[in-house]
Amino acid sequence: MKGYGVTIAGVGQYAPPGILANKDFEKLVDTTDEWIVQRTGMKRRHIAADHEATSDIALPAARAALEAAGKLPADLDCVVVATATPDYPFPATACILASRLGLVGTPAFDVQVACSGFVYGLTAAAALVRSGVYKTVLLLGAETLSKITDYTDRTTCVLFGDGVGAVVLERSDADCFLGCNLGTDGSDVSALYLPVGGSRNPSGRKGMAGADRGAFIRMQGQSVFKLAVQQMVAATLSALDQAGLAPADVDFLIPHQANLRIIDATVKALKLPVERCVINIQEYGNTSSASIPMALAEAVADGRIKDGQVIVFAAFGGGLSWGAVVWRWKGARARIATQPAAVAKATA
Ligand code: UT7
Repeated sequence: MKGYGVTIAGVGQYAPPGILANKDFEKLVDTTDEWIVQRTGMKRRHIAADHEATSDIALPAARAALEAAGKLPADLDCVVVATATPDYPFPATACILASRLGLVGTPAFDVQVACSGFVYGLTAAAALVRSGVYKTVLLLGAETLSKITDYTDRTTCVLFGDGVGAVVLERSDADCFLGCNLGTDGSDVSALYLPVGGSRNPSGRKGMAGADRGAFIRMQGQSVFKLAVQQMVAATLSALDQAGLAPADVDFLIPHQANLRIIDATVKALKLPVERCVINIQEYGNTSSASIPMALAEAVADGRIKDGQVIVFAAFGGGLSWGAVVWRWKGARARIATQPAAVAKATA
């Protein structure tokens, strides 16, 4: 098959205006602002309204990315949503979002690899463009983690927030996808999972309603922490090797924002100056698959990321899963949306 180049033509971001600050958690669970800042680097998270689902907050980010790319929804050949918090187990949130963008007949699908969703989605969407299947693809990392967070569990509730990052990928003469490395180890799902709602523990099963705590994220934080650093470093080195590059060639690392200590340890292991790492965890907490494209949008919008630079996207999360993509930046714009979309009429 003939090969084509791919570039990111525009980036968008949207975070809902509702805020949960560290001090707010002092009223909910036995914690302190000091503990949260010292152990995670987080200060605030944006939280969707009760009536908002993932597609509702994805819409403004999608429109922002399209505007930044100078495109209309009709220019899209495909819509991909990376999410661990879909509107429903099915249909795919991408189908709902495509419809909200006014598209009928356009292919749309979700990618579900928890916090690694954006790097997996980017690899898949870039492959669709590079192989010539599609010319223009909208890819989002979109999450409403507040909907599956147990606000009585101090070991997880302080960590998660809601938000969306979006990129428009398009065919290009220059190929900006320089290399990737993806991996999983599904031998212990209990390291990080949502126990109820799938076919193992269906939420409709008799007696399951009483076990409603299973409808929330469960995580063995310490073991996930250690593997996160190891695998993000290993994936980054492998992806750079595939690109024929070394850590010294990296202009910006954009890691998944799970914990400032994980980011610091990753940056240190790669021997990168911390100024070459994009960090916004203090404002958003952990937004799973949305964290990397949200950070990208901010670093492009404020001018840190410039034409020709080498960027590494690196992620780790439930699966367990991990991955890194090496990308050459090619002069795209970013737009941060501030207005929420009108919420769709509830369909169920
Ligand atoms: O995005 C997907 C990937 N996710 C991650 O990469 C997350 C990885 N894990 C982490 O970021 C960290 O492990 C956490 C932030 C979740 C926890 O930090 P930690 O430094 O690993 O704390 P710990 O689990 O070792 O707990 C230390 C203590 C415990 O108390 P005891 O047993 O020593 O008395 C916890 O109960 O801190 C306690 N603790 C808290 N104390 C105050 C746990 N959460 C809190 C809290 N406030 N919110």
